Amino acid sequence: MKVSAIVYTSNTGFTAQYATLLSHQTGLPLYRLEECDLPGSTQVLFLGWLCAGKIQGLKGAMGRFQVAGICAVGLAPQADPAKLAGDNRCGGLPLFYLRGGYAPARIRGRYKMMMAMMKAILSKKTDRESQEALKAIVGGADWVDTAQLAPVLDWLEG
Ligand SMILES: Cc1cc2nc3c(=O)[nH]c(=O)nc-3n(C[C@H](O)[C@H](O)[C@H](O)COP(=O)(O)O)c2cc1C
Repeated sequence: MKVSAIVYTSNTGFTAQYATLLSHQTGLPLYRLEECDLPGSTQVLFLGWLCAGKIQGLKGAMGRFQVAGICAVGLAPQADPAKLAGDNRCGGLPLFYLRGGYAPARIRGRYKMMMAMMKAILSKKTDRESQEALKAIVGGADWVDTAQLAPVLDWLEG
């Protein structure tokens, strides 16, 4: 699949970092969804951050361009690909999960309220994954790593 641009949306910067790394490694031009006026026929790789299981910006991007592949960026160690694809109506498109990070100081408004609820839920749980997520939500975390991009680059270059 020939992709001619990378389009992304990012709330706190982690998805932007991955999109920038991909653009540097491939030479593909990079656009923020909110500022992008590419023609509707453009084949794009879309990157969006995960909010309550939903890939932000994906629906809009699909309506505006030819989305050929998708990266979802979240804080979970991994995501169930079938669930992610189903919940986001990815329609069989290549879908990659990238672990981003969490920057509590950059979360505002309704997202802050949603995460306060998530914090309260996680505080009551004792399993290791919940405890790790809670630690990241309280103290922040950054898992951005170029190594995670290997499958995306393979697909882009394949
Ligand atoms: C309100 C809210 C909901 C979130 N929901 C999820 C989620 O369902 N799954 C997940 O893995 N990460 C979730 N996250 C974490 C973000 O996806 C993660 O911090 C991501 O790296 C943010 O990317 P960005 O810096 O490009 O905005 C959520 C974060 C916020 C603020």
